[in-house]
Amino acid sequence: MIKELLSTISEIPTPDIVVQQIISTASNPNASAKDLEKVIAMDVGLSTKILRLVNSAYYGLPRKITKLSEAIVIVGFKTVRNLALSVFTYSALHSKHTFIDHDKLWSHFMTTAIFSEHIAKRIGFMNREEVFLAGMMHDVGKIALDLVFPVYTYELSKLSQEKQTPFFLIEYKCRVEDHMELGGELLKLWKFPDEYVSVAQYHEKPSLNPDSPYIEMICIVHLANVFSNIFMPGYSLSYGSPYLDPLTFNVLGMKPGDLKVMFHELERVFERSRDMIYGGVQDEAGIQA
Ligand SMILES: [Fe+2]
Ligand SMILES: [Fe+2]
Repeated sequence: MIKELLSTISEIPTPDIVVQQIISTASNPNASAKDLEKVIAMDVGLSTKILRLVNSAYYGLPRKITKLSEAIVIVGFKTVRNLALSVFTYSALHSKHTFIDHDKLWSHFMTTAIFSEHIAKRIGFMNREEVFLAGMMHDVGKIALDLVFPVYTYELSKLSQEKQTPFFLIEYKCRVEDHMELGGELLKLWKFPDEYVSVAQYHEKPSLNPDSPYIEMICIVHLANVFSNIFMPGYSLSYGSPYLDPLTFNVLGMKPGDLKVMFHELERVFERSRDMIYGGVQDEAGIQA
């Protein structure tokens, strides 16, 4: 039902041919850096935006990278893929004006992606680039919700603020399709691999699917999302104390005391990533992607 709804609604952006090829090239184990470069080079604007992100302070490169081929060699195939898909997410968010602040929502996506990558590194989780992308895409359902039901989305966010209750709990109370379900369906429609779909579906409450083969990734993004909401309250349309699922501690092998240490680490990560988080993909003149 939701799937049909999403595929028939013209407000939902569909990845253009370049983005579709980036998704498939990057999930193909036999694809080479050259293949990715060829696909991205089809869109000149995209290459420029990727290079701007690669040169941000977050990656701390000693010199400026001016060529896509160099970027792929230096920061890696998967990172370049992630940045390309971040640019697409930014455009999807800015495809229509609604009642919510899309720049803030995008900053929430990027912060969650960056925090997810840091947490993954900290606990020794291997697929760091996958976790970054899962963090970037976790709340993609909010784009769908906002584009399809703009007044409703705005009202939900207002209620979240008034009641100081997380957005997803307000959604639960309203008993309609929520951003987790919508996000999962949207990523399936866009042909993202299963792990990203699962993160979109369970990132608010991993214990709803404790046996998922992707439970580690779900918990990493869940925790990153909690921190992201603490650092930037309301940016994700959610207010009040974020909900932290106790399952996270078991799955990630953490103790509650680790949260404080992690908070301070993420403060430094946040400072270092400001140019990525705030408008990293805007054009020079401030014109949106
Ligand atoms: Fe969410
Ligand atoms: Fe979120």
